[in-house]
Amino acid sequence: MSVAPYLATPMPVVRRMLELANVKPGEVVYDLGCGDGRIVITAAKEFGAFGVGIEIRKDLALKAMRAVEEAGLSDRVKIINANFFDVDVSDADVVTLYLTTSANMKVRPKLERELKPGARVVSHEYEVPGWTPILVDKFVENERYRFLTHKIILYRMPQP
Ligand SMILES: C[S@@+](CC[C@H](N)C(=O)[O-])C[C@H]1O[C@@H](n2cnc3c(N)ncnc32)[C@H](O)[C@@H]1O
Repeated sequence: MSVAPYLATPMPVVRRMLELANVKPGEVVYDLGCGDGRIVITAAKEFGAFGVGIEIRKDLALKAMRAVEEAGLSDRVKIINANFFDVDVSDADVVTLYLTTSANMKVRPKLERELKPGARVVSHEYEVPGWTPILVDKFVENERYRFLTHKIILYRMPQP
């Protein structure tokens, strides 16, 4: 079941999310609901990570798979066309989210169950209800148009 509609995270925000999560070479980054794959592709291309993108919509998953191939990243990025509630994410060092507050509420027990201590969760715009962030960033995408402000919220496991 889809828990959020498709809307892409702008590329400057993608980079900022991965910077704030301190993604390091060799780490594993999951994007739950990966859309066109831009977050996991950027994590691999610019941060040296391994990426796993999970996307329920077949058209978007196919688009993401094509983008991975075109970027020559097939050995570093895997796209899975599935419901992310059905996919184990326990090898993640970093999980990225751009869903909704209610979707984050639903995914929270899964993350608490599966993620290892020290894993980071970085969410674009929406909080994970009940968790205490270690950082909340207001990122201005374009200084000339200050209304393009994005909230980026960073968490570290374990959480109560
Ligand atoms: C707001 S978009 C974010 C796309 C991408 N993460 C980004 O930031 O550019 C949310 C995505 O989650 C996908 N999605 C929603 N529920 C899902 C589920 N249960 N399993 C996998 N994907 C899901 C939607 O199809 C959509 O592409």
